Amino acid sequence: MQLADLNQRYAIPHHLQFVAGEGGLVMAEIANSHSTARIALQGAHLVTWQPCGQEPVVWVSKFAKYAAGKSIRGGVPICWPWFGAHATDSKLPGHGYARTVMWEVLESRELPDGATYIRFGLIETDATRAQWPHPCSVQIEFTIGKTLRVELVTRNIGTHAFTLGEALHTYFHISDVGQMTIRGLEGCDYMDKAGGASELRKQQDGIVIEREVDRVYLNTTADCVIEDRGLKRAIRIAKQGSHSTVVWNPWTEKADKMGDFGPQGHRGMVCVESANALENVLSVAPGATHHLAVVYSVEALN
Ligand code: BG6
Repeated sequence: MQLADLNQRYAIPHHLQFVAGEGGLVMAEIANSHSTARIALQGAHLVTWQPCGQEPVVWVSKFAKYAAGKSIRGGVPICWPWFGAHATDSKLPGHGYARTVMWEVLESRELPDGATYIRFGLIETDATRAQWPHPCSVQIEFTIGKTLRVELVTRNIGTHAFTLGEALHTYFHISDVGQMTIRGLEGCDYMDKAGGASELRKQQDGIVIEREVDRVYLNTTADCVIEDRGLKRAIRIAKQGSHSTVVWNPWTEKADKMGDFGPQGHRGMVCVESANALENVLSVAPGATHHLAVVYSVEALN
């Protein structure tokens, strides 16, 4: 749909407009009395979210590349319908294809509390069907207000069950990685993937990051809280329909290799991903709908 048509159908005065953004990507630009956000229609990828009077909550690299068919480094990439490498075909893209294909706007609304609601649907093509031959409908809803709520909805409209892996791969802006502790995963088992390893370990205390961290915490539905002593705030991640949490920071060497973090860029970010991964992948029966919903909020840290 052309920009003018999108604006005619879905723009909301003083809430939502569609613009041609970086790299020519169409962006939904949301600004209401609570917060601002930008969402690329490619990947239904929320790139920024900033509550009024706060520093950004969501991190996006200044060096991020915005281009057709490429994933953006930062924001909330949608990993779907598998997480990490594909189970059987290494030629298929890591974390699935949802983050790099086009989505369409299905609905937009102003909510009574002044928040903005927008819903997108993934556009199926021959290329997506070739990678994922299961009839299904996938939609994502964003509620942008004092908090950010994201709900990824997968419905099996076929006649066979399928296995689903997924994540809201959220990058968070923090003052400095040395000023941060992640709470909520104490006592959980995790698969440690750092440096290409694959070892099962147990988390004892809050998570402090001093080197590459790439962990899939298993069988956890707990809230996570990122305590940021530098910004004197805590970011709460409250999730439903998710049984894994991924914590990732590539650290210096890997970030440099990726080329879209910028110098020391890894120090200002951490990913805490609400996921269903590894042994927590789901079987979605014919006719069934699976919801993965996350609310992000900011609290003062005393
Ligand atoms: C994390 C994975 O979820 O995403 C890491 O656990 C991976 O292994 C990271 O490196 C980034 O993935 P990508 O595909 O965006 O570079």
